[in-house]
Amino acid sequence: MSNTAALKCDKVKKTYVDGKLQVPVLLGVDLDIAPKEQVAIVGTSGSGKSTLLHMLGGLDKPTSGSIFVDGIDMQHLSEKKLSKLRNEKLGFVYQMHHLLPEFSVLENVCMPLLFQALSIEAVQQKALALLEKVGLSHRVTHKLGEISGGERQRTAIARGLVTDPVCLLADEPTGNLDRQTAEQVYQTMLEINRHMNTSLVIVTHDMALANRMDRILMLTEGRLTPM
Ligand SMILES: Nc1ncnc2c1ncn2[C@@H]1O[C@H](COP(=O)(O)OP(=O)(O)O)[C@@H](O)[C@H]1O
Ligand SMILES: [Mg+2]
Repeated sequence: MSNTAALKCDKVKKTYVDGKLQVPVLLGVDLDIAPKEQVAIVGTSGSGKSTLLHMLGGLDKPTSGSIFVDGIDMQHLSEKKLSKLRNEKLGFVYQMHHLLPEFSVLENVCMPLLFQALSIEAVQQKALALLEKVGLSHRVTHKLGEISGGERQRTAIARGLVTDPVCLLADEPTGNLDRQTAEQVYQTMLEINRHMNTSLVIVTHDMALANRMDRILMLTEGRLTPM
């Protein structure tokens, strides 16, 4: 296995500018996530967890500092190269699933692969394999509106992992689920991840879930501290 960090931050700062108002959120975040490592990021509401995750995912740029995905500095990429990197090397799972309601479970999971040079058969085969792993083989033709909240998050996890990313980024992935469903979805995510070469970064305020990861980092006063 390569020893290049899956994800690395070097002195990342972020200040939102809103008219004359400056809102400093990240004051110097350093982070080094090894391949396959499972890391939880915890912190109080408003501490900047989503801000950090957006930047790790290349959705927003830091005010200063650098972020490397699989050794590649995102700062200096063109929009086109950044999109390609995001599609090929990163997976995303959000609290609100961001799936397409008018499409089937299978179509939603196929979506990230449609940007890659694969035959439709290969795309479907990969998507079906992931759907089996998350326990949704019996739901592939259902529309998103026809399945439960837990099944939607399982669909989101399958979609996030279908490209075999270097890192899966999840922002409160089980935040909208009841305790028991959250526990089951989390369990599935960690189990699948153990058999893949993907590292996991999960933002959660649930310490019971965070405790099951390799490492917990607390975002406080704009910096990450080990717990
Ligand atoms: N686009 C934005 N413009 C200005 N301020 C923002 C923006 N997004 C987030 N913030 C502010 O940054 C801080 C951190 O927000 P966020 O990253 O969402 O925290 P968390 O996810 O930990 O709850 C908050 O004070 C929030 O109001
Ligand atoms: Mg948040």
